[in-house]
Amino acid sequence: MARRPSRKQAEIEALRAIPAHQRFSDEPPIVVEGLVNRFGDFTVHDGLDLTVQRGEIIGVVGGSGTGKSVLMRSIIGLQAPTEGRIDVLGRTITGVDLDKKIGVRRRWGVLFQGGALFSTLTVGENVEVPLKEFYPDISDELRREIARYKVLLSGLPEDAIAKYPSELSGGMKKRAGLARALALDPELLFLDEPTAGLDPIGAAAFDRQTRELKETLGLTVFLITHDLDTLYEICDRVAVLADKKVIAVGTIPELIETGHPWITEYFTGPRGRAAQGAYEQNKAREADASASGASGAGASE
Ligand SMILES: Nc1ncnc2c1ncn2[C@@H]1O[C@H](COP(=O)(O)OP(=O)(O)OP(=O)(O)O)[C@@H](O)[C@H]1O
Ligand SMILES: [Mg+2]
Repeated sequence: MARRPSRKQAEIEALRAIPAHQRFSDEPPIVVEGLVNRFGDFTVHDGLDLTVQRGEIIGVVGGSGTGKSVLMRSIIGLQAPTEGRIDVLGRTITGVDLDKKIGVRRRWGVLFQGGALFSTLTVGENVEVPLKEFYPDISDELRREIARYKVLLSGLPEDAIAKYPSELSGGMKKRAGLARALALDPELLFLDEPTAGLDPIGAAAFDRQTRELKETLGLTVFLITHDLDTLYEICDRVAVLADKKVIAVGTIPELIETGHPWITEYFTGPRGRAAQGAYEQNKAREADASASGASGAGASE
């Protein structure tokens, strides 16, 4: 007797034997292999490979026009590549028609480069759009309540829910776009230039929000940015697009070590050095604050 419980027990014991950080060793959420994108004679990507690991914020950088947005559009199935294979959350999405992608489409959220809010809808109604599309059967009341929660989660005040995009500042619009991207409780979040056009304080606040969301919701974040502060402050790894490929992926020190001219110029030029300096100062300030907190001085802001 009791065969079943003992087998279950054995499974639990086996799971316990695996270190915590290796327990969820499922496949990487995004795998791009041999991606080719051509528009007429113009080749944007030529044999691009990229693997994104679960739970990381991967920054994607590259000169303007190197194909960062096209890469993102390929991964979310909006751009059928000329060649190559893309797997997202364990499903191959290349060569599959849009309807078949629905199961996986609801597992990601996207903040597009331009924000792309519907100008005739309020912020709350904008967030309700994907809920209506993917969960048409939920009641109006529940849908409104979910949208409200997402608006607050994105760091907007309660009164922003009833506002129209034209009534919002640039930073608030980005947060409204973020709220909509979070509507379906995504596992993957795609952000295309989320801090472009924001003032430095607004940009830093948006970065903190992204980091917090990643940590509390366990998201994997694909983050296209030109913002060196963002790369230093919140990205776990950075992928560099150049020469129609991802030429390097790694932490910023690892990238600098490659000695590639574009990477060297980007990270060790005047702006790169300024961002690194600011990052190191912030780290030192945080360390001071936590040390004085630990000694009972009660650091406050
Ligand atoms: N649908 C399209 N048809 C033709 N060419 C396109 C199309 N989409 C993108 N391109 C071209 O592909 C190249 C890469 O565009 P993409 O928008 O991915 O650049 P990017 O790296 O995101 O640049 P930025 O930093 O300016 O946003 C550009 O030269 C662009 O003109
Ligand atoms: Mg772009």
